[in-house]
Amino acid sequence: MLDLIGVSRSFGGARAVDDVSLHVAGGAITGLIGPNGAGKTTLFNLIAGSLAPSAGRIVLEGRDIAGAPAHRRLASGLARTFQIPRPFAAMTVLENVLLAAQGQRGERPFANWLQPAAVARQERRNAERAREIIEFLALTRLVSSPAATLSGGQRKLLELARVLMAEPKLVLLDEPAAGVNPTLLETIIDRIQALHARGLSFLIVEHNLDMIARLCSTVHVMAAGKLLISGTPDDVTADARVVDAYLGGAA
Ligand SMILES: Nc1ncnc2c1ncn2[C@@H]1O[C@H](COP(=O)(O)OP(=O)(O)OP(=O)(O)O)[C@@H](O)[C@H]1O
Ligand SMILES: [Mg+2]
Repeated sequence: MLDLIGVSRSFGGARAVDDVSLHVAGGAITGLIGPNGAGKTTLFNLIAGSLAPSAGRIVLEGRDIAGAPAHRRLASGLARTFQIPRPFAAMTVLENVLLAAQGQRGERPFANWLQPAAVARQERRNAERAREIIEFLALTRLVSSPAATLSGGQRKLLELARVLMAEPKLVLLDEPAAGVNPTLLETIIDRIQALHARGLSFLIVEHNLDMIARLCSTVHVMAAGKLLISGTPDDVTADARVVDAYLGGAA
């Protein structure tokens, strides 16, 4: 589904992502782990298109997308959440989810005047779909609450809801468990599994290795910008180089 070939990105003199090549299989839940500052979020930014690589190719379903703008990648099915969710605080959960709908007719010049019925129909469809997604993510109770009132975990669910509105094929999740209480974490894990069963692919950055082990078939480990090792969760967490990288990062 997604292949990175020799992808690098420097900031000043520092290589945040250093010659990374990896494969993300379609239909799989793939993990991306590594100590703080390893380059995981930078890699997400490169894949999603909010940063341009200094070198390398990013191939989504056979097409090199390294030069494509973020909105085109989103339209081809590649969606991401942010490590720190930034919902529009004063807007409700429903409004935040609706804002994520793609290609709304009402946004096109003149559509509102020339095709008011079509615009209204599409808005009704989007509102229906937004409510279904909100229900699926157990946020219905909060549908009319301002996003500012949500807990950390509820904000992660709202991020996921916004992403689903774009009807993605591959979802990049940046630390979906960070700051989430244990009960809500189970909801998030369960929903990821349900979406996976419906055919969605995931690439998940996470420090919660228990969550990674439960969800992922393959895990890539990064350290200091480089891909250290790829394998099953059991294999990589038992690898001495991975243990060293985490201990080194903590020191
Ligand atoms: N916009 C930027 N400008 C300069 N340096 C940056 C920028 N973004 C990231 N970096 C640097 O790149 C390196 C990798 O950062 P990145 O955020 O990708 O790490 P991470 O693996 O996501 O870490 P964490 O687990 O803490 O989220 C760090 O040294 C960071 O300081
Ligand atoms: Mg990060």
